Amino acid sequence: MHPPRHGGNLAWAAAIARCTPNEILDFSASLNPWGPPKSVIAALQASLATIRDYPDPDCRPLVEALTTLHRLPKDYFLVGNGAAELLTWVGRECGQRQRVFVVVPAFADYRRAVAAFDSTVVPLPLPQVQNNFSEVLPKLTPADAIIVNNPHNPSGHLWSRHHLQPLLETGALVVLDEAFMDFLPPAANESLIAAVPEYPNLIVVRSLTKFYGLAGLRLGYAVSSPERWQRWRAWRDPWSVNNLAIIAGVTALGDRPFQEHTWQWLPPTRQAFAAALNTLPELKVVTKSKANFLLIQASGSILSVQTYLLQQHRILIRDCCSFPELGASYFRVAVRRDSENQRLLEALRAYYQRP
Ligand SMILES: Cc1ncc(COP(=O)(O)O)c(C=O)c1O
Repeated sequence: MHPPRHGGNLAWAAAIARCTPNEILDFSASLNPWGPPKSVIAALQASLATIRDYPDPDCRPLVEALTTLHRLPKDYFLVGNGAAELLTWVGRECGQRQRVFVVVPAFADYRRAVAAFDSTVVPLPLPQVQNNFSEVLPKLTPADAIIVNNPHNPSGHLWSRHHLQPLLETGALVVLDEAFMDFLPPAANESLIAAVPEYPNLIVVRSLTKFYGLAGLRLGYAVSSPERWQRWRAWRDPWSVNNLAIIAGVTALGDRPFQEHTWQWLPPTRQAFAAALNTLPELKVVTKSKANFLLIQASGSILSVQTYLLQQHRILIRDCCSFPELGASYFRVAVRRDSENQRLLEALRAYYQRP
């Protein structure tokens, strides 16, 4: 079996661990360990009969909830079958551009989406743009596109609005993938969704699968100018978002206690987990992550560690082999519940302290 290009491939992991997929403790997909919210499970159970009917192609109840959340008119939103579906149409938009700049290392789907429409990516190394984009700005023209993931996967780096704003002034198509932005509470949030009415060259992509633990249901949305959505609607399947996903989205966005709990849980847990990982001399947490995952550099290849963790502990970590700029000495882990983080730490200690 080929090694996966994305986290969360439990079938692949289970084959190596010789167990069933649900016996794997998965640190490779960056999903909120408190999800899905109980309110969502209850709403889905009460709504199973809706699978008989075609879904509303405009996902109206969910768009209503998004207008309340982001205080923008409904025409600015397009709901998708996960952020991944929306990134495919980003790829189509980018196919019409001269150059497509992507901050790397990057989520592999950007290359997939851009390549699907016969374009290629111009890589922008993260260290070059981590502090600001001033080196890149003079190169960008309205004929270009740039894709930035904020907070950045796999490093967890967060750019402030103030650092990203100058990109919008270049007239280039600016795609901000904010798939993990909802892990930051409103006061710490650096989203540029509010700038969309002012900048028709901006597309913000959001996922609802990470924060709410709904990866198997597939749900995301994008925010951009209404004219763009007219074009995308003509390209896509009218029923790409199903009835249960729409109901789950409305319920999840309304579950304030779930959101508050996650916002309170994450920062101290992430800090304690990073500090504990750093006590292992063979490991170093690379950046100060603002997201729900940590990027770690090991003293050597982690491929044997990954196999050991699967075979001896049924734990899956995300190797970074599919990020060409990182390679086999890096891995990424989701921040999970404290007891689960402890399980990984003990397993790593056991590996590195073997005679
Ligand atoms: C940066 C980034 N964007 C988008 C996605 C896709 O999210 P979704 O599950 O909503 O398709 C992922 C999934 O891992 C991701 O890491």
